[in-house]
Amino acid sequence: MDFLSRRTIRKFKEKNVEKEVVMELMKTALVSPSGRNQRPYEYVVIDDKEIIKKLSVSKENGAGFAAGAPLMIVIFGHVNPTWDDDCAIASTVIQLKAHELGLGSCWIQTKEKVDAEGNSTDENIKKILGAPSELKVHNMIALGYPAEEKPAYTDSDIDMAKLHFNKF
Ligand SMILES: Cc1cc2nc3c(=O)[nH]c(=O)nc-3n(C[C@H](O)[C@H](O)[C@H](O)COP(=O)(O)O)c2cc1C
Repeated sequence: MDFLSRRTIRKFKEKNVEKEVVMELMKTALVSPSGRNQRPYEYVVIDDKEIIKKLSVSKENGAGFAAGAPLMIVIFGHVNPTWDDDCAIASTVIQLKAHELGLGSCWIQTKEKVDAEGNSTDENIKKILGAPSELKVHNMIALGYPAEEKPAYTDSDIDMAKLHFNKF
């Protein structure tokens, strides 16, 4: 798989994501690497348009586009010393696997965010999904078949000054 062609996608076709594709994606997510292999993540996969709409306004900015997504995944974690890292890695694995499956996706930041009325995005999401109180929301990912095209990254996008060998 060429990961230079993975780009954030915020416009999606009306087409639903098939159950087999969802399951292939989520099986990969469920074995995503984690500290001491504790796999502290839990995923809620949402294909109900009404719930997706509610999630899209759980945060004031940067989530509105998701109202048009046929699929959302909310990544939760059981708090342990690596939960934050593990959930971020899992989210990246989801985005890369989605790309391999021909899906587009966009990561939606939720931590320390609020909705238009100032309510906590975390609390909103937990309420919408009926999440157990001990779980932490890590982020959400909107997915679907892409309805926009973005160019793959090329050498001109790559900042080699950030790359160091052996020492700075
Ligand atoms: C931690 C993180 C948080 C992000 N939060 C949002 C967000 O809330 N809303 C959004 O539309 N895009 C969000 N993005 C997508 C970024 O804007 C996007 O990855 C970035 O512009 C680079 O574009 P690319 O993914 O096409 O390389 C987020 C990405 C990351 C990794």
